Amino acid sequence: MARHLITSAIPYINGVKHLGNLVGSQLPADLFARYCRARGHEVLFLCATDEHGTPAELAAARAGQPVAEYCAEMHAVQARIAEGFRLSFDHFGRSSSPQNHRLTQHFAVRLHAAGLIREVTETQMYSPTDGRFLPDRYIEGTCPNCGFDSARGDQCDNCTKQLDPVDLINPRSVISGATDLELRETRHLYLCQSRMKDALAAWIDSRTDWPVLTTSIARKWLNDGDGLQDRGITRDLDWGIPAQFDGAPWSGMEGKVFYVWFDAPIEYIACAQEWVAAGKGSDWERWWRTDKGAEDVTYTQFMGKDNVPFHTLSFPVTILGSREPWKLVDYIKSFNYLNYDGGQFSTSRGRGVFMDQALEILPADYWRWWLLSHAPESSDSEFTWENFQASVNKDLADVLGNFVSRVTKFCRAKFGEAVPAGGDYGAQETALIDRLSARIRDYAGHMEAMEVRKSAAALRAIWVEGNEYLQEAAPWSTFKEDPERAAMQVRLALNLIRLYAVLSGPFIPDASAAMLAAMQTGDDGWPDDTRAALETLAPGHAFSVPEVLFAKITDEQRADWQERFAGTRG
Ligand code: MF3
Ligand code: ZN
Repeated sequence: MARHLITSAIPYINGVKHLGNLVGSQLPADLFARYCRARGHEVLFLCATDEHGTPAELAAARAGQPVAEYCAEMHAVQARIAEGFRLSFDHFGRSSSPQNHRLTQHFAVRLHAAGLIREVTETQMYSPTDGRFLPDRYIEGTCPNCGFDSARGDQCDNCTKQLDPVDLINPRSVISGATDLELRETRHLYLCQSRMKDALAAWIDSRTDWPVLTTSIARKWLNDGDGLQDRGITRDLDWGIPAQFDGAPWSGMEGKVFYVWFDAPIEYIACAQEWVAAGKGSDWERWWRTDKGAEDVTYTQFMGKDNVPFHTLSFPVTILGSREPWKLVDYIKSFNYLNYDGGQFSTSRGRGVFMDQALEILPADYWRWWLLSHAPESSDSEFTWENFQASVNKDLADVLGNFVSRVTKFCRAKFGEAVPAGGDYGAQETALIDRLSARIRDYAGHMEAMEVRKSAAALRAIWVEGNEYLQEAAPWSTFKEDPERAAMQVRLALNLIRLYAVLSGPFIPDASAAMLAAMQTGDDGWPDDTRAALETLAPGHAFSVPEVLFAKITDEQRADWQERFAGTRG
């Protein structure tokens, strides 16, 4: 039994995320976690809210709430929505937790001891109009790298380059719009990332199995010349983890906090401590400390491409630079962007479908299936309502749902609501079992490789096999001349429903549970032997005809939603 530590990039606290955010990290991470569990591996799957920094402060200010109160409320909202999407986190933590405060300060002290932190007097953007410094997202302007005109002070969303507010061309205050900004001196702690450049390059070169998207972004910023500049890890903000505390080996940081991108990835570790504190686990160190049992853990991170520099460069500097035996990531699965109907999803303009809205109009499985089967892996992908309607209606309603309903209804009509006895497999069945075995191997191979789209296609091909078999075998006509043979065909098809439930769980957990409930059985593990798996439900085993698994999306619904989500949410 292997052990898998799986983390999803932790979403910012500022508001409900859209479907593009969901498919870029949390959802594929959930798919992989569910698959690993289905294969009998031990899994620790963690996510949290990213609560510090300017995004949180700005959103709280807009909501007219104290930031701590805002974060507590939004965490509960995000947790509820995550449940709605059946995201099976072992713990959904908070980067503002006491555990993360302690651990972040601990890492800073260790990095200081390793000579990787220096104090720097620098000039930062100060806004006389706002009466404060404007770090990170408090400032916007034109990207010096690509010319994008709404680059934020910490990163350009267009080209992913990590920025410093002073780099921006034509900078303006996000609070007041003021452009009369001036440079003022302030003291900060700097992380000497540049000194770790060779170690990082060697590590990234050794990761030959990583997706190209991940390594190409990492190499780009590593070799960019200024890609691995030393970076300020403190900020002139009120909200965050204090940079000055009892026993801090540096001074003069009163009133400053650590930079959000310094403490956020540390939350991956703190979250495991929160998991223990919440009474859900007993030992976090065997997941995170290679001297305490984590040496045989496989650690996989999921994230959107904009997060890659922080996970391939900054966070590894924190881990390696601490000179302590923390678990380093083994595999980074990154995603491109999902676009919305001819443009981008936009949180500020309310363009696209947000997670709460999605669940208001359709159950989680519909979204999970579409998003995963169209995951932006090799390139950006696009959500359109036409495509969504077509996939749901074809894959879920026609292929899977229809199979389940035809088989169960036919059996009820001809044999009653129990698995019928009689008959032996013929050539058709043997051939089907061979094809299914090959397809299941195929599916498992793609799932293991985290090839999300290919996995979806392989699963769909397994569903199609059932339909084709039913078409060929045609138990409704066999029944007239040879009821025994029809009984065998139906028995096989009922067992296929159970098999589909087991295999489909990672993609569509609710439908999978509904199929198992209808078959009055549980999920007794991955089908290592297809033939045996298809004999699990023995003659006489009772079942019931389930409710319609997937309703088709009508043209009116599609048109209605298309209009409703075109922009200006709320
Ligand atoms: N909140 C960040 C985002 O949504 C992701 C943080 S991931 C972590 O882009 F590594 F910092 F935790
Ligand atoms: Zn740019």
